[in-house]
Amino acid sequence: MPADVLLETEMPGTRPTRTPTPRHYLMCRPDHFTVEYRINPWMDPDQPTDTALAVRQWESLRDAYLALGHTVDLLEPVAGLVDMVFSANGGFAVDGKAYIASFAYPQRQPEAESFRRWFAENDFEITEPESVNEGEGDFAYVGGVILAGRGYRSTAGSHAELEKVFDREVLSLTLVDPRFYHLDVALTVLDSERSAGPGRIAYLPHAFDDASRALLAERFPDSIIVTDEDAEILALNSVSDGLNVMVAAGADDYIRQLAEHGYRPVPLDLSELLKGGGGIKCCTQELRR
Ligand code: ARG
Repeated sequence: MPADVLLETEMPGTRPTRTPTPRHYLMCRPDHFTVEYRINPWMDPDQPTDTALAVRQWESLRDAYLALGHTVDLLEPVAGLVDMVFSANGGFAVDGKAYIASFAYPQRQPEAESFRRWFAENDFEITEPESVNEGEGDFAYVGGVILAGRGYRSTAGSHAELEKVFDREVLSLTLVDPRFYHLDVALTVLDSERSAGPGRIAYLPHAFDDASRALLAERFPDSIIVTDEDAEILALNSVSDGLNVMVAAGADDYIRQLAEHGYRPVPLDLSELLKGGGGIKCCTQELRR
């Protein structure tokens, strides 16, 4: 594209001005976090975990949200549900409606009840799932459309349900690398205006099949593409408020790219939770009313 058709804010060498918007998040303190089974390649039950360290790292994330003026609601942790800290997986909420998770593995299935109760008590209009789905782990809201991952956890049936429940366009994406088993470890939403519009994402192309890659390239031509090295520390499991991006410390190339695009990276160390196969975004479910 010739330089004269670029918006001034997108001229090479200038950083676009970004505006943060206040967000509402649902989190769950990792009081009972450990790794005692293996349902993704990151988990090794033989490797020791430090729950107190996981709590401190999780607190640094919650404190960062609060310092930025975001609202954080807390779900009561349940003893024995060791993965409950990954609150993104419990549901998907847009327009005041919540589509409740139906977890793929029996170890996590009892978590759904806590999320269901929380959404009911907080006046969301609840839809019970008919299909296996892991909420915001596999679903993302961007520019008025819903991106939906499948391949490891959420099923095609859940994508069809999303379309009905939210009455929005759903772009179905197929994940093909077991290390990137949820959409939210393969793709980040950086800009999600609450209106229609293209939005902006970052992603790891080879985590998706050919058709999904083509669809992403067509619909999101201005995306940030991350390196394997960054993706391997779950850099894409990041959370953006439109300006500030909570991102895994050490994701150097992604952090540089974010800054170049006018975002303000906030590096955080959630290394203990990485042992469960999750990071910043997994610990965060965004609530949209
Ligand atoms: N151990 C959890 C699982 O395999 C990790 C979930 C991470 N969450 C996420 N949104 N990717 O289900």
